[in-house]
Amino acid sequence: MLKTRINLIASLVDKCNIVLDIGSDHAKISKILIDENKANRVINVELNEGPLQNSIKATNHAKYYNHIWNIKSNGFKEIYPSFFIDVCIIAGMGGQTIVEILNESKSHKVNQFILQANNNVEKIRDWCFKNNWRIKNECFVKDNDIIYEILVISKKKGYIPFCFNRKYFGKINLKLKNELFIERWSDELKYLKRNENLYKKNIKIISKIEKILKNKNL
Ligand SMILES: C[S@@+](CC[C@H](N)C(=O)[O-])C[C@H]1O[C@@H](n2cnc3c(N)ncnc32)[C@H](O)[C@@H]1O
Repeated sequence: MLKTRINLIASLVDKCNIVLDIGSDHAKISKILIDENKANRVINVELNEGPLQNSIKATNHAKYYNHIWNIKSNGFKEIYPSFFIDVCIIAGMGGQTIVEILNESKSHKVNQFILQANNNVEKIRDWCFKNNWRIKNECFVKDNDIIYEILVISKKKGYIPFCFNRKYFGKINLKLKNELFIERWSDELKYLKRNENLYKKNIKIISKIEKILKNKNL
């Protein structure tokens, strides 16, 4: 059976002690991780009162009491910097918002991030390059007819070359060029060619997408 976006994100978490889910909303990921015994504790972080209450209601069950915490915080602001986090998930937000949260995480101890941006994924890759994080895995999932891109990143050792193609398309994605990658960039190409203004503003990326889709050398 095909995985949903939420299930795929949860499946990318390796068994560990502490997971932080920033922007947890209905607490779906935390429940999967505890049900599947993949984490000892999940801390759901919510900026807004409504979604925080959703999280609290959804996890109000004896089996979650000792394993799921729900806290109100703007990203990392209320998280102790000395607290060790094995995996931090930030999903379902724009790329720019995710970058802002990542910028606040610099004084915190996070081993790995799992990131799913609804747009501007290239901003996250750019942040990784500038802040010494390695993209360990990148993949796509189609859920309700929308294609989402997910990145798994960890602290890197040594220099990794970066370029326009890697920033926009992703090194691993370019190697695999799987069906969802082709579909995602074919859709983008159609969108950018929709009118003359868009076309003119995006000539460089349009030509790169066309080359990649035609399987030419980059
Ligand atoms: C669209 S929902 C995504 C929920 C869930 N992560 C998912 O992928 O389905 C985005 C959630 O992030 C929360 N959020 C946005 N900015 C945040 C921040 N800086 N810190 C904590 N939560 C935030 C919003 O309140 C909202 O509940």
